[in-house]
Parts: sequence; structure tokens; C-alpha cells
Amino acid sequence: MLCDLRKEAVDSNQKWLEKNCPRKVAKRMYSGYGECWKEACDDSGVDVIYVAAPAYLHASIALYGMNAGKHVFVEVPAARTIDDCWNIVETSERTRRHCMMLENCCYGEEEMLAWNLCHEGLLGSISHAEGAYIHNLTKRHLENSFRNRGHGKKSYCRGNTYPTHPLGPICQYLDINHGDRMNTIVSVSSGGFTWKDYIAETFGPDDWQSKLELDRGDINTSIIKTARGRTIMLQYDVTTPRPYSRINLVQGSRGCFWGYGFPARLYLTKGRPGTESGKDWMSRDEYEKYAAKYRHPLWRSVGGIAKKVGGHGGMDFIMDLRWAYCLQNGMPLDMDVYDLASWSSIVECSRKSDIAGGAPVEIPDFTRGAWKTAKPRKIGDVDLGKMGLDAKNV
Ligand SMILES: NC(=O)c1ccc[n+]([C@@H]2O[C@H](COP(=O)([O-])OP(=O)(O)OC[C@H]3O[C@@H](n4cnc5c(N)ncnc54)[C@H](O)[C@@H]3O)[C@@H](O)[C@H]2O)c1
Repeated sequence: MLCDLRKEAVDSNQKWLEKNCPRKVAKRMYSGYGECWKEACDDSGVDVIYVAAPAYLHASIALYGMNAGKHVFVEVPAARTIDDCWNIVETSERTRRHCMMLENCCYGEEEMLAWNLCHEGLLGSISHAEGAYIHNLTKRHLENSFRNRGHGKKSYCRGNTYPTHPLGPICQYLDINHGDRMNTIVSVSSGGFTWKDYIAETFGPDDWQSKLELDRGDINTSIIKTARGRTIMLQYDVTTPRPYSRINLVQGSRGCFWGYGFPARLYLTKGRPGTESGKDWMSRDEYEKYAAKYRHPLWRSVGGIAKKVGGHGGMDFIMDLRWAYCLQNGMPLDMDVYDLASWSSIVECSRKSDIAGGAPVEIPDFTRGAWKTAKPRKIGDVDLGKMGLDAKNV
């Protein structure tokens, strides 16, 4: 089944299936009006709804889908308000349907390496992590395109509206909701300079871009404190000119991993926790040895195929393969509805703090205390044979 507001999008996806997976072509297609996704959710031949519609629709489709008896997998962020986060948690519990956020960055090659380093104890006791979504989208956000049709007269952006790409993996390094939880957040934004300069130098006075009422900072920085006293620094910047980065740094008592150190870097103490082992990061040769030794089993078994066929360096393929495997084999998913809610709730919590000049804001405990006894999760491998697949021919 395929669904999209635009018929041409459904048709082009069906053509892709006809060419690449002729046995999997969609039997039914829904399109052409704003609520066509309701028909898709009501389709009795469907078990799972995969939501890649624009973010303002995520929570509505997730709630409708679960109420229609479907498991729902939803793009990031899954919800933009705390109320919607609670609604999704409560609906998932009531309907006994999965609702997982498709946080593909949790399956990035370096994120999974960092996860393994943390869980194998190589970095010691973890005290701090840093992440970011730094991606210069100024041109893309201000061009005349279908995506920007909803711009209206205002562009307001306070807090961190897209926190989960860096936060998801960090929460998995720190076992958030499984022995620790995010307690409070403080968040502040810089002034907004780049859009103003870009608009002034690019558009005429009659263009819609020049008439926008702007209230958006260039860079937002948040610090989250956890119940066990760890800190997470998060940045959000889709505006300024600099290379893409998710930072992806995790610090423990025995060392530090820094994914976006250009290239990735590792520093490990050779002595007792906290002692120095030199002034510089590990040499490339030494790093490569550790990266090979601690490569996550998922990347070991399907990384080669993932890089050939999967989007975003292979992580999209690994994520989809893994949730399908877990679902088909009755295993818990690597990311559950409580992760979805706590990671997505940062959108509203950071906005509240930013508007209040960086005042601390409490982050809700969507597990209602269950984080205290929940055991750390193990992200394992897949058995392709059980899925009827062959590693050479997925
Ligand atoms: N995980 C990632 O790496 C990643 C990357 C890009 C985008 N995203 C997320 O994916 C989502 C989609 O992003 P996008 O840039 O493709 O958005 P988009 O605006 O291009 O829309 C995606 C599709 O949704 C369709 N759509 C719009 N309204 C609809 C409706 N009412 N009913 C059915 N279909 C509708 C559009 O026609 C389009 O084909 C966003 O939430 C975004 O945050 C995630």
C-alpha cells in the first residue's frame, strides 16, 4: 500500500517498485486529498504504517494509525508538543501497538561504534555527551519549492525544533529510560543574523522572503541534566555556513570518543581512570584497530550491503532491517514509545526554556518511574536467514 497527498509521488514510488521489487508492488494506493492517510490507516490489509509525511502530521497519523490497530513507525520528530507525546504514549499502552520513532542516526556506523565502546566499558563511567544538528539549510528553506509552501508570513523558531538526530544515539549511550533519565533542560539561542543577510542579498522587496516576520536564532544551545548527574550538550543550527556535523562526542572516566572530529577520534587513558595518556588523540592506525575491534555486530554483518543500498551512509537500511527483524521475531524494539516521547519532548521543553531566557525546564518522565528499574537495552544483530534473506542478495 502506498499513500501520498500527491498522486505523482505515489506513481513514481510504484514505478520504482515495479522496476526494483516487482513482487512487492503496492496493491492499493491512496492520494489526492489532505486526509488520504486515514484511508491508508484503515486499510485492513496493512499491519504497519510508516510515516514520512511532514512533521506537523506525525502525531495525528500515529494516533489514528494505532487506534486503527496498526503498529506505527514515524519520522523525526514524532511529536512537537508534550501533550502529543503523552497522547502517543497513552494510546500505545491502551492499544498495545508499537509506536517507534525512525531515528536513523541511532544506526549510523560511528554512532553504533560509540554505543559499543560505552557498553563494553572502554570509556569508563560516562559523565557527559555532546551532539548537534548542524546542517546549513538556509538556501533550501528560503527557495520557492513545494516544501516551503506553508511558510505564511512568519518564521518563528525558538529552542531546538529538531533534536533527535544527535539526542537519540546519546540517550542510547547513557541508557536513558533504562537506569537514568533526562531531568531538566536549559536552552538559549543566539540572535538571528544569517537569514536577514541572505534575504537582503538574494531577494527583491516584493518577494515573500523579504516580507517574512522573523524571530529565529542562528544557533540554539541546550544543556540537559540527567537524574544520575550526567550532562548532555545539544546544538541546533540549520542556518549558518559551516560543514555538516552531529558532533557525536561521549566522555567517560577512561576516555573520549568524538565522531565528528573530522575524522572520528578516540582518546583512551592507559592508566587509572582520569589519568593522561598523551596530549593528542590516538593515531589513525591505532584508531582503526579499535574501530575494527569494536565495530557493532549489525555493521559487521550487513554494513557492506547497507552502504550499497541504504540512504544516509547505510543507516536507513540497517534501521529498517532491524525493526522488521525485531517485529517479526517478537523481540522488543531498540527504541520504544517512551524513547519517542522523551526525545521528542525536547522540542517543547527547549522552546519554553529559550523563551524564558534559559530558565531550567523539567522534562516529563514518560516512563512514570519505570526508568529506575529498567535494565540497559542490548542492541543486537539480525539473523538474515530467519528473514528469508541471503546476505549476498538482500
Ligand atoms: N531521518 C532523516 O534523516 C530525515 C531526513 C529528511 C526528512 N526527515 C523527516 O521526514 C519527514 C518528511 O520530510 P520531507 O522533507 O520529505 O517532507 P515533504 O514536505 O517533502 O513531504 C514528504 C511527503 O509527504 C507528502 N504529504 C504532504 N502532506 C501530506 C498529507 N496530508 N497526506 C499524505 N502525504 C502528504 C508530500 O507530498 C511528500 O511527498 C519530515 O518529518 C522530516 O523531518 C527525516
